[in-house]
Order: sequence, then C-alpha cells, then structure tokens
Amino acid sequence: MEKTIRWAVCGLGKITKRFCRVLQRLPGVKLVACVSSSKERALAFQKKYGLEAAYTYEEFAANPGAADAVYVANNMNMHRPTVNRFLNAGIPVLCEKSFCLNKAEAEEMTACARKNNVLLMEAMWTRFLPSAEYVRGLFEKGELGKIKAIRAYFKAGIGHPPGSRVFRKAVGGGSVLDLAVYPAGYTHMLLGVPESISASGTLNKDGVDLRCSTEFRYPNNVTAKFDTSLLFMQIREDYNIYCEKAHVKIYRFYQSKKIKISYADGKKVIKKFERSDGFEYEILHFNNLIREGKTESPIMTHRATVEIMGLLEEINRQLGVVF
Ligand SMILES: NC(=O)c1ccc[n+]([C@@H]2O[C@H](COP(=O)([O-])OP(=O)(O)OC[C@H]3O[C@@H](n4cnc5c(N)ncnc54)[C@H](OP(=O)(O)O)[C@@H]3O)[C@@H](O)[C@H]2O)c1
Repeated sequence: MEKTIRWAVCGLGKITKRFCRVLQRLPGVKLVACVSSSKERALAFQKKYGLEAAYTYEEFAANPGAADAVYVANNMNMHRPTVNRFLNAGIPVLCEKSFCLNKAEAEEMTACARKNNVLLMEAMWTRFLPSAEYVRGLFEKGELGKIKAIRAYFKAGIGHPPGSRVFRKAVGGGSVLDLAVYPAGYTHMLLGVPESISASGTLNKDGVDLRCSTEFRYPNNVTAKFDTSLLFMQIREDYNIYCEKAHVKIYRFYQSKKIKISYADGKKVIKKFERSDGFEYEILHFNNLIREGKTESPIMTHRATVEIMGLLEEINRQLGVVF
C-alpha cells in the first residue's frame, strides 16, 4: 500500500488556506500540523482544521518526526531562514514562489538541501498543470517549429488592500517577485535563460514595483515580452507563443484549462484540460518524490529555480529594486 504522506503547513496566511483545502481532499495524504510565527494563531488554525499539532517555527524544527513534509508559504523575506531551518532539521520542504528574494539566497537554500540530502522544491504549481505538460510536449516534439516570439500579461490588482505584503519592501513585495515569476518561469521552461533582459517599471514610495514591462532576448531575434501589474483590474492573462507553423494561445496560462493552436493554413485546434483546483498536481508530484526517496524534482529542478531567481533579480536591479 502507498505510504500516507503526513503534511505540515507553515505560514498561515491566505494561500495556505487554499493549500489546506486542496490537500484535505487528496488521496494518500494527511494534514497533521500547522506552524506559525504566532503560537496563538497556530492553535486557532489547529482547531479550525482538526490537526494533531500546532507549532512555532522553533518547536517544529525541534520535532522533525511530526510530519513527512512541510509547505512553506510565509512572506518571501522569511523563505530563506525558514527553509534552511527545516532542511537542517531533515524535513522535506515545498517552498512557495517566489522562492526567495534573489539568486544568492536560492543558491544557499538549494545548497542547504544538497548538504542535508533532503528534498526541496519550489511550489511553482503552474509547471505541473496538465496544460503545461502538454505545451512542453508540443515543443519537445518540434511539431510547430521553432518559437519566434512570446507575449504575455499578468495582473493581480484585485484582492490586495493597501498595506498588503505585495506593496512592502521589507517583506519582499513588488510585482516582479509576486507576478513576473509566472511568465518569467513559463518562458524559462520553454526557452531557458535569455541572452539579455530589459525591464522598465513604476515603483511605489516603499521602493517596490507596482508594474513592470520586461523583454527577454534570445539568439536569432527571438523575444519574450511580458507585462505584470498590481494595478490592472481587467486584462486577459493569456500567454501567446508565436512559432514557425502556428500561434499557440494559452488562456489564463498560470492556471490554464484551455489552449488554442491556430495553424498557418487556417486550421484551429482547441485543447481542454480537466482539473479541480490546480494545486493538486504539484502536491501529488511532491508526494511521489518523497515516496521514491528523491531530493530534487526533475520538473522543477534546483537549477531552474536558481536561474529564475537570477532573472527576477536582474529585472528588479534594472528597476532600481535591490533585495
Ligand atoms: N501559488 C500561488 O498561487 C500563490 C498565491 C498567493 C501567494 N503565494 C505565495 O505564498 C506566500 C504567502 O502569500 P499569502 O498571499 O498567503 O500572504 P499573506 O496572506 O499576506 O500571509 C503571509 C504571512 O503573514 C503572516 N501573518 C502575520 N500576521 C498574520 C495574520 N494576522 N493572519 C495571517 N497571516 C499572518 C503568516 O505567517 P505566520 O503564520 O508564520 O506568521 C503568513 O504566512 C508568498 O510567497 C506568495 O508569493 C502563492
């Protein structure tokens, strides 16, 4: 019988609640503990979700047998110390995006995982969606010819009140780490690291960007352009891939259920994908890595995470934002 993976969640904000909802309806897993900087909030969370235990960060690291895996979703400035602490305690970690604040931190965290021989993966759920797997397959097979250009938008203006983490430099705010990580990560999945980057944007009074336009340049004049914003309210979050033989439109690419391929001869193919939330695929993948005794994912590799953090750091640097 398959081993049940006992999960803890750390950082009890908005996204963790969604993670718990998804986790609690998956097979082969059990949500057993929660971890917070506030013991009081951890105890309230434990009660609400019917968990076995509630810990502070120190207490959880001192009880490594309490769970088989921990999902880290606190503020981005806290990812590095939290992840390293748990890895040093021998606990496998699934760490939210953006993985951390800059490339040096990502290098330190992945080195810590290797030193301890413990599983660490960035929770870039978009990379595990069936639609993303399908898109990877399209370009691996080369059926559509080479990619010539990419154009994408991503916004999340709704849902962030003034004072939210996304507007505060001290906790790792800004549209680059919060949003550009999605199109930058998707583009990295398809084309790897660009030859050069140019970015421009608008900063708030706290010194993080509210909106940003980025261009990645690759050999043979291939470009990937994307806009991210914490201000846009209504915009199509489509990811367009223009290639030699077709135009691939990935509708709402970061959680896509639908892809349209328009061929040069006028033929159109629509592909639809079933899913309930989207988080389930990264969780099931992580469970399998634990069961197989792996320390790194072949889909979201340490190298990819470090390279993507390098891209985000460069975008931020050009905007005048240094973490
Ligand atoms: N994958 C996705 O689709 C997705 C979506 C949104 C966010 N994220 C990522 O997840 C991370 C957290 O984002 P979030 O939107 O969940 O942030 P959030 O709701 O602002 O919570 C961030 C952290 O604030 C701390 N906190 C302090 N006081 C709190 C209070 N009274 N109530 C709740 N939390 C409090 C919590 O950590 P403690 O409990 O330890 O204090 C919590 O983890 C970020 O890295 C973000 O980029 C991912």
